[in-house]
Amino acid sequence: MKELGLIDGKIVDLGEHLISMEDRGYQFGDGIYEVTSVFDGKLFMIEEHLDRLYSSAEKIKLEIPYTREEIKGFHELLLKESGIKNTGIYLQITRGAAPRKHNFPVGIKPVLTMAIRPGDPQGAEKRAKGIETLLVDDIRWLRCDIKTLNLLGNVLAKQAAYEAGKGEAIQHRDGVVTEGSSTNFYVIKDGVLHTHPANNLILPGITRIAVLKLCKENGIKVVEEPFTVEFMNQADEAFITGTTTEIMPVTKVSDVVIGSGSRGPITQKLQELYTEMIKNA
Ligand SMILES: Cc1ncc(COP(=O)(O)O)c(C=O)c1O
Repeated sequence: MKELGLIDGKIVDLGEHLISMEDRGYQFGDGIYEVTSVFDGKLFMIEEHLDRLYSSAEKIKLEIPYTREEIKGFHELLLKESGIKNTGIYLQITRGAAPRKHNFPVGIKPVLTMAIRPGDPQGAEKRAKGIETLLVDDIRWLRCDIKTLNLLGNVLAKQAAYEAGKGEAIQHRDGVVTEGSSTNFYVIKDGVLHTHPANNLILPGITRIAVLKLCKENGIKVVEEPFTVEFMNQADEAFITGTTTEIMPVTKVSDVVIGSGSRGPITQKLQELYTEMIKNA
């Protein structure tokens, strides 16, 4: 197994410095990204990731110079060349390089870069135990639905959690819980799953799509409506989801213990269903 990069279709060493210092991703965060899971050598929910990639591109008026098939091919190439079978593959597309000015330079060519590294083998253990989290203000902009490279709000939230010895930050806007710094967030109260609606205030997670589908198929009622910090504090269970995180129980938010303070039964059931879904994909 070896870690590798890819730039515009060409395999490179991850340490190589081939990006212009005037790339707009570097100067403005002017670009978009995706992280796609690989289980047993197979790309998981790649179509949904591509849907979101092209949707993010449209929202920031970036024309992706590759077809879906070509982008899938880049993923397959990285898998083949790296020999890695279980991980997340990172992909980003910036608007490209040009002398610095805010508006889009005419004739600029987007730059696609990707990276693959072995995944975290301890994931399963962590997912049984769950994590403690830190409640923080959601200071991000109002287009959190776009998966852009502008992640400073998310980075500061995660760093605050890290400095407090917690695994994730749970963000709220004026008392309404939105999502984690790199994950979607859910609570369960009286057998019903509650999560923020997929509007401009959260990222429409691909794992979120899977979880809501599993709920629907297994008779777990879902309410996609904003809920408050007070409601969260009274929840029976809580968890976060993300491509690399999968489904992770949340046992505490700041000083508040959620439910029993350990993984709840519906969370565990959803984890089992998700594992099945991955096996059958
Ligand atoms: C802010 C935010 N919310 C939610 C997610 C989860 O999305 P997905 O399940 O597609 O990984 C991410 C993933 O990076 C994220 O950054």
